[in-house]
Amino acid sequence: MNKFSSFDQPVMMKIDKVIDESVGTKSFLFKHKLDYTPGQFIMVWLPGFDEKPFAVSYLNDDFFGITVLERGKYTKLLHKMEPGEQLGIRGPFGHGYSIPDNIKNGNGSVCVIGGGCGMASVTVLIERLSDNNPTVLMGASTGTSLFFKNRYKDITLFTDDGSEGIKGYPTDALEALHNKHKYDIIYTCGPEIMMAKVFEFCRKHSIQFEASLERYMKCGIGICGQCVCNGQMVCKDGPVFDLQALSNMDDFGKYSLLKSGLRVSLKEYGDWRSC
Ligand SMILES: Cc1cc2nc3c(=O)[nH]c(=O)nc-3n(C[C@H](O)[C@H](O)[C@H](O)COP(=O)(O)OP(=O)(O)OC[C@H]3O[C@@H](n4cnc5c(N)ncnc54)[C@H](O)[C@@H]3O)c2cc1C
Ligand code: FES
Repeated sequence: MNKFSSFDQPVMMKIDKVIDESVGTKSFLFKHKLDYTPGQFIMVWLPGFDEKPFAVSYLNDDFFGITVLERGKYTKLLHKMEPGEQLGIRGPFGHGYSIPDNIKNGNGSVCVIGGGCGMASVTVLIERLSDNNPTVLMGASTGTSLFFKNRYKDITLFTDDGSEGIKGYPTDALEALHNKHKYDIIYTCGPEIMMAKVFEFCRKHSIQFEASLERYMKCGIGICGQCVCNGQMVCKDGPVFDLQALSNMDDFGKYSLLKSGLRVSLKEYGDWRSC
């Protein structure tokens, strides 16, 4: 099977399998090989309705999949789709996570933090880093929103309300974990406020850092300018940025652009990743 990639137009693909991951979260699997670097995204077209960006959360030689939190109109329609129905897939796009030389081949101490449905963006990365035996932390608002909790043998769960795992946020545990494991790199994807806290922690302790940013996307290929963040096209230059790049992006952790292009605080933007 050839590896799939299509940059200019969606290719219709049949949904092979639908998995209920948690309350409000479903995965959609496609029997196609995908040429994908962890952290990149694909555009998923619901014919006659809209096209939206998603990370790839399942990847092997025979299939790939996305994991979708039900939010607004588009994801509600997506959640109604069944095996045999078709979606248009374009991509993959953007720059994914890098694995620096000091981390390759199982070297180096690694921590991966997923918040809410941001966990979908780091799953394939965690699998690529299996030789490093990374510390995996996942946070969600409540126990029923946690997913992939049985996918990794060492995963520490956090919930805001304490209904499952440790009560609180993954960031609460970072200081103690770093004292023990002396991390060389921390990767994260989740609510931007959480990622900004991890960024500050890494800056303070001189730890390498990579985060996947979410901005409203329309074209996904650097044409419309909708996803711009301090001069960086998140769809093309990101969505994954390292500590140095983020140090020059003043809007990170503070502002985002609405679909209209209006720049608003993150609170107003409504952080879709905090499930
Ligand atoms: C690089 C990237 C990867 C993503 N990966 C995932 C994923 O793996 N799983 C997942 O559940 N969601 C992911 N998303 C978000 C997903 O695209 C939105 O949740 C989805 O489009 C919401 O559509 P809606 O109509 O159901 O909700 P709406 O009510 O339209 O929006 C709900 C929230 O989603 C955001 N959103 C809506 N449309 C877009 C868009 N075109 N681009 C970016 N954000 C949008 C809105 O700003 C809002 O905060 C990703 C977004 C980006 C940018
Ligand atoms: S989504 Fe159009 S430039 Fe990034």
